[in-house]
Amino acid sequence: MTTVPVTASKNYNIVIGHGLLGTIGTEVRKLGKAEKICIVSETTVWPLYGEIVQESLEREGFAVCSYVFPAGEASKNGTVFLELLNFLAARQLSRSDMIVALGGGVVGDLGGFAAACFLRGIRFVQVPTTLLAAVDSSVGGKTAINLPAGKNLAGAFCQPSLVLCDLDTLASLPEAVFRDGCAEVIKYAMLYDPALFAYLEEAGPGFDREQVVSRCVTLKRDVVREDEFDTGARMKLNLGHTVGHAVEAESAFALSHGQGVAIGMAVICRAANIPDCGRLLALLERFGLPTDTRYPAEVLICHMLSDKKRTGGTVNLIIPRAIGDCAVVPTPVDRLESILEAGL
Ligand code: NAD
Ligand code: GLY
Repeated sequence: MTTVPVTASKNYNIVIGHGLLGTIGTEVRKLGKAEKICIVSETTVWPLYGEIVQESLEREGFAVCSYVFPAGEASKNGTVFLELLNFLAARQLSRSDMIVALGGGVVGDLGGFAAACFLRGIRFVQVPTTLLAAVDSSVGGKTAINLPAGKNLAGAFCQPSLVLCDLDTLASLPEAVFRDGCAEVIKYAMLYDPALFAYLEEAGPGFDREQVVSRCVTLKRDVVREDEFDTGARMKLNLGHTVGHAVEAESAFALSHGQGVAIGMAVICRAANIPDCGRLLALLERFGLPTDTRYPAEVLICHMLSDKKRTGGTVNLIIPRAIGDCAVVPTPVDRLESILEAGL
């Protein structure tokens, strides 16, 4: 078991290991006074892991209720969000009570945002069950829902009180969902850590789960400590995402987020023309991730210009300089087409 302490506007621990779901009751009890817990989950994860979490919490004397919504990104919307708030109100949760978000990034983002808003803020615990949620979305306090106008357009920075990452849950992930998480793992290696990159090259998708998740989480913890509210260093976590979101959107989301990020990293690395670009492309392919897109630059640019991270006439691109070293480069929009053409 590994514990990674986070120092931010709220301090908390990320606990990573095997067989942790059955200990959640005692871990939550350590967080202080609470009577009621609402487990927020979805229809794929709840039948797999709901019971063990509920029983563990009940053994510690908590009154437990559960709100389970249909699995998938389409549920991360205002309707489900309001339904959840009404559910919490009907169950009369108080300021000292808590939400446990049991699931992938969709549950974590929605459950976390509900915790940020209900009674102007109650505590919540993240229990990530996908690799992406384990290494990224459960850490750092970004919570959100989607609006018809776009992804994650309503949300709040709200740190959890605990992240409990039971690596055993990753065993039931569909292959494609696991690979999506691997794109984010490779992103951390490319951004910050040549040794992690070399380890992934050597180990492939059979990498040691605890070692790699702990390393990624530690890297993200350090970024969040430096820039919790995403005005500087945290922007680097968008490596591959600007082009990735464009590819995802243009495919009408037939391409997954992980596939988009993989293509985005490959495109920007080719455009930057760094000597180690071949190593990134080979690593992505080793993990079953795509490195090419058939969409032309002018089509992708339309999506990139509506990206919420655009500021005026510039887009912040994350440009690799070497493996483990990337820079935030404010790029005038009129330069995007030539950069994309160099990378496609
Ligand atoms: P997800 O939560 O939809 O999970 C992906 C799929 O895996 C779903 O079908 C789900 O039902 C299934 N699943 C989850 N855990 C499982 C398990 N253990 N066994 C079997 N199936 C399981 O998606 P995700 O990829 O985890 O997260 C994507 C979301 O995260 C997006 O909404 C994205 O915007 C958000 N995100 C947030 C942040 C952040 O910092 N808050 C960062 C990155 C992504
Ligand atoms: N996933 C991006 C962030 O947490 O900032």
